[in-house]
Amino acid sequence: MEHALITRKEGQTLALASFLAMFAYFGLVITLKGPLGSGKTTFVKGFAKGLNITERVISPTFNILKCYFYEPLSLYHIDAYRLEDEFIELGLEEYIEGDGVTLIEWPDYIKELIPTNHLSVEIEVLTPLSRQFTFKAYGEQANCLITKLQGYKNV
Ligand SMILES: Nc1ncnc2c1ncn2[C@@H]1O[C@H](COP(=O)(O)OP(=O)(O)OP(=O)(O)O)[C@@H](O)[C@H]1O
Ligand SMILES: [Mg+2]
Repeated sequence: MEHALITRKEGQTLALASFLAMFAYFGLVITLKGPLGSGKTTFVKGFAKGLNITERVISPTFNILKCYFYEPLSLYHIDAYRLEDEFIELGLEEYIEGDGVTLIEWPDYIKELIPTNHLSVEIEVLTPLSRQFTFKAYGEQANCLITKLQGYKNV
């Protein structure tokens, strides 16, 4: 299943991600693809808010992984940009298959670690302030998220 939505300002992206987080479950993996500055980290920020994570979410580019240990769901934020094609043994798979939700920027650099079941998000920059989000579900559980997104309206 697949669904596309357009946001017209940063706040709408935060709200969209925050909405999606309400339906998050253990082991959920979300990949975020899109050019530099398209809104991947912004999406993670909104998602964290939806999980009631009050800590400020910062871009993990320089440390690749940031963990937010929260109840009931922890958030693992991976930014694989600096890994490029060079595969480094970091033990990221322990987080990806762990007890929380994992959001991954630049997933193509760690393709071999992405589980079959996941939600893929592709971001396209339409104008300086608008972005198109294309959500694609891989697996039954991720399909349920698409169903929820189909009922979503920007505010
Ligand atoms: N509709 C929108 N949704 C999200 N961000 C937007 C939107 N309109 C403008 N922006 C701006 O685009 C930028 C997105 O930056 P962000 O750090 O989220 O990108 P990124 O995809 O994580 O980049 P990088 O690849 O460098 O990690 C922010 O400055 C944000 O304010
Ligand atoms: Mg980023």
